[in-house]
Amino acid sequence: MARVFSGIQPSGELHLGNLLGALVNWVKHQESHDAVYCIVDLHALTLPKDPEELRKNTLELAQLLIAVGLDPQDCILFIQSHVPEHSQLAWLMECTVSFGELNRMTAFKDKSGRNEFISGGLFTYPALQAADILLYDTDLVPVGDDQRQHIEITRDIAERFNTRFGDTFVVPEHVIPPAGARIMDLQHPDRKMSKSELSPTGTIGVLEPPDAIARKIKRAVTDSDSEVRFDHVEKPGVSNLLSILGAATSTDPLSLADSYERYGDLKNDTVEAVIQLLEPIQQRFFELQADPGETQRLLQLGASKAQEISSRTLARAKENSGLLQP
Ligand code: TRP
Repeated sequence: MARVFSGIQPSGELHLGNLLGALVNWVKHQESHDAVYCIVDLHALTLPKDPEELRKNTLELAQLLIAVGLDPQDCILFIQSHVPEHSQLAWLMECTVSFGELNRMTAFKDKSGRNEFISGGLFTYPALQAADILLYDTDLVPVGDDQRQHIEITRDIAERFNTRFGDTFVVPEHVIPPAGARIMDLQHPDRKMSKSELSPTGTIGVLEPPDAIARKIKRAVTDSDSEVRFDHVEKPGVSNLLSILGAATSTDPLSLADSYERYGDLKNDTVEAVIQLLEPIQQRFFELQADPGETQRLLQLGASKAQEISSRTLARAKENSGLLQP
């Protein structure tokens, strides 16, 4: 089975867009692939973080991912900082990538423009990401188009290392995941649903209670005529509701449009579908939260499975680059 690797930053609560866009694919890949998933807490430190918040977000994200359907028996799910091989290989990656290459990363330019303290870690972020991926002899990295540059630099680093030091790493491929539903903000259907503070009423959190979900969907913007049609350009708000309903019930949004005459009915059914989708996830999450030992046990299992693979790759990389064995 081909190995897939993906990483996610622990930055606050997940929302419906994350769930229906990316995480459904993570869950699917568990069956068809040898799947490795990492919560990248070290990457989170590249921007200033409150320590307590980081710890809480990290644990909560692990619990959410399990609640959403990642099964630590079927995949490897672990926290990046629990496997020290990541930071060790990152150094070898930093010494393989050039300053010029790092300097061309658009993610760095975006983030450094928006923050006053720019850490060295923010600049070398892609070297750590390359380490994440290469440690697991990864074949496929299913991440969005915004990560294209990071995957390309990972491939360049792997190839350069292999040329300098002999065959060490598998060169991974970027795969754009099968189009998950593109879920937009309920108040601003021209932009993606995101955790932004700007639009709390446009975003549905995975842990949100049913009455809040109902309120937000009922107040979602539509438009002034009343035809239900799947048309992102002319009817972005209505189409977004159809996308949500379609993704939540595994139905084609285009065909769903025919079954509705009125916005109200569409909204009611969308409310129902989202509540039903989230209910078992929330229930599992709260069970895990009530029993922190269980999550800890699952994360320990994940870290030890991850280390079994990554320690071999790191040993190979150290040996090939000429470091003297202790
Ligand atoms: N940079 C990725 C993001 O912002 C997170 C990430 C870190 C990642 N390491 C990774 C993604 C390895 C895929 C593979 O979304």
